[in-house]
Amino acid sequence: MYAFLLIITTILLIIVASQSIYSFTIGAPILFSPKESIFEALTYYKPKPGENFYDLGSGTGRSMLIASKKFNLNIFGFELSSPIAAISKFNFWINGVKKSKINLKNFYNEDLSNADIIFCFLTPKAMLRLKDKFEKELKPGTRIISYAFSIPNWNPDKVIFNNTPGKTYCYIKK
Ligand SMILES: C[S@@+](CC[C@H](N)C(=O)[O-])C[C@H]1O[C@@H](n2cnc3c(N)ncnc32)[C@H](O)[C@@H]1O
Repeated sequence: MYAFLLIITTILLIIVASQSIYSFTIGAPILFSPKESIFEALTYYKPKPGENFYDLGSGTGRSMLIASKKFNLNIFGFELSSPIAAISKFNFWINGVKKSKINLKNFYNEDLSNADIIFCFLTPKAMLRLKDKFEKELKPGTRIISYAFSIPNWNPDKVIFNNTPGKTYCYIKK
């Protein structure tokens, strides 16, 4: 019995570690953006209830939770790590969020054209790669909120400075 539990735990740890290393290599490590930055950026944009909110690399779902609970948005997340995605599902459940969609997919390969608002907390390398995708795919007027890292050569509509370690860059797709 003990050996069986040890094998299962080891397998789970290998899955978590390999997915985390993979997402770190292609996108960003697992970290959390400050709730106040997400809230301030969404408050600035005054989204209409029912708009589509996407988090690219949704982690434990904190931006999605704020988007759903405080702004009544339809929430969609993309996350490569299944254990982290499971935590976000649990997070939604304990907070009474009934409608959410977490895609266990690489966001670079997904169609983002239905997004009204995009949130990301990634890396400079990921923002450079997303820039082209945003230019090709997003509809004009899509709002993009990026915590800590700017989109290269795009002019932000607003930059939020608060007591958190990073700035929050807010853009509107032309
Ligand atoms: C810095 S965390 C941000 C989590 C969350 N958005 C937040 O602000 O609290 C970045 C997340 O993106 C995920 N990730 C990185 N690259 C990805 C990719 N290409 N597709 C889907 N998820 C990715 C990582 O697994 C990690 O959970």
